[in-house]
Amino acid sequence: MANLFAVSDLHVSHVDNRSVVDRLRPVSPDDWLIVAGDVGEKFADVEQSLAELRSRFAAVIWVPGNHELWTHPGDPVQLRGVARYDALVRMCRDNGVLTPEDDFPVWAGPDGPVVVAPLFQLYDYSFRAPGTATIQESLDRAYAVGVVCTDEKMLHPDPFPDRQSWCWDRLELSRRRLDAIDPALSTVLVSHWPLVRRPTRALRFPVFAQWCGTQLTADWHLRYRAVVAVYGHLHIPRTTRYDGVRFEEVSLGYPSEWRRRAAPPQPMRLVLEGAPS
Ligand SMILES: [Fe+2]
Ligand SMILES: [Fe+2]
Repeated sequence: MANLFAVSDLHVSHVDNRSVVDRLRPVSPDDWLIVAGDVGEKFADVEQSLAELRSRFAAVIWVPGNHELWTHPGDPVQLRGVARYDALVRMCRDNGVLTPEDDFPVWAGPDGPVVVAPLFQLYDYSFRAPGTATIQESLDRAYAVGVVCTDEKMLHPDPFPDRQSWCWDRLELSRRRLDAIDPALSTVLVSHWPLVRRPTRALRFPVFAQWCGTQLTADWHLRYRAVVAVYGHLHIPRTTRYDGVRFEEVSLGYPSEWRRRAAPPQPMRLVLEGAPS
């Protein structure tokens, strides 16, 4: 059987997270693994982790998180924005890892084929802070309370003028790809940032939501026939249902976060179980 597993936010620059990555092993030889972003910041770390996982799983499907897109001062690879993303995609292809730029793979489930659609959609600040009317007001509020995503310093949108323009370009491209899927097929939608705003209500700091997605994907789980929507980024691993669709946040998070949780970290989450062979 080929099971479909998922994980995200491995943050391998934290040494204690590497032992969790070591425990990411398939249950059966045909299993697939979704890696929903934030493997790490440094290009070489991302490549090493994805290559390792690809040597174990029959298929690995990656989407970028904000951390892969950072231009970190400590990284010898100083590419920015779209050029950095394109280089990550080339690196994935060299290692046999699927990305949002490849044909969507079709997973053979017990109830029929399911299209696994990795998406890179970023965010456009439309999950504004409560009581604010514009992006600027919302950002000002975040600066005032001292909760500002490091993306503001390290995630460069080049050649786009700003991150929201890059986001809107990605949405246009993603919509075209999703519209082209056979309407008879259901999907697993995979993105680093949640497609709907509701999961961000669980954030400790509500102003952080503006770096967590876009209102423009609010109906994608319905429009594109998702059986499961997989995401990460919030570091609040859990299963929820919105409009009858299962959402799985599959993030590991930082050691300081997973050590606080009641249960030890599960190396990965079963998204869909394969048919018995
Ligand atoms: Fe993360
Ligand atoms: Fe993230």
